Amino acid sequence: MNSYQIEIVEKTAQFIQKKFEGEGTGHDWHHIYRVWKSAENIAKTEDCDPYIVSLSALLHDIADHKFYDGDLMEGSRQTKAWLKEIGADEDTIEKVADIVSRVSYKGANVKDDMPSIEGQIVQDADRLDAIGAIGIARAFAYGGNKNRSLYDPSEKYEMHESFDAYHKSESSTVAHFYEKLLLLKDRIHTETAKKIAEQRHQYMETFLEQFYGEWEGKR
Ligand code: ADP
Ligand code: NI
Repeated sequence: MNSYQIEIVEKTAQFIQKKFEGEGTGHDWHHIYRVWKSAENIAKTEDCDPYIVSLSALLHDIADHKFYDGDLMEGSRQTKAWLKEIGADEDTIEKVADIVSRVSYKGANVKDDMPSIEGQIVQDADRLDAIGAIGIARAFAYGGNKNRSLYDPSEKYEMHESFDAYHKSESSTVAHFYEKLLLLKDRIHTETAKKIAEQRHQYMETFLEQFYGEWEGKR
């Protein structure tokens, strides 16, 4: 990155940190920070433009569709507005806004559509933060915030066919493991992230085994 690009990234980091301070919904600044740093690390192992990776990672959750009635385009609108305001060039604005509009997980049976390597890296980093120890913690924090039960043994898991069905789902937090978290390791693009995902996936499997054991008073 040249010094102008470093300055744009720094300004964006400060803007997002300020915007997200005090967020308790799993989309706090710390989530963005982890995704940013992990995307930077993955970027080192891929042939890509690190400037686009850093900006997209920082802006990927700028407007959470869950708070905009499932509108996936609000994020790219706000991304464009911000990057224009700080004078980023048109090509950068288009690339980053496109990645932001595509990054979200949209359901078990909804295919991912992320053509650029920069977007794939950011999607991988975002997904890594949804699995493993931090992923488990975030899922239960989210479930608590939404008043969901931890687990419901009578519940059937649903493989959502559309973003709309996924977005409207009100299943328990353990169900969310089957509807998203346990599926992510097979939806990772880069080799670097795949290795990390496998270890984190194993950790979630161990967690669930222990959880079910305790549920029946067997452990
Ligand atoms: P991301 O930042 O990966 O796009 P989301 O916006 O979908 O993730 O959700 C933020 C966090 O909350 C993630 O860790 C996600 O797994 C978790 N989460 C989303 N939906 C649910 C749910 N229905 N139950 C439990 N956790 C959820
Ligand atoms: Ni995210």
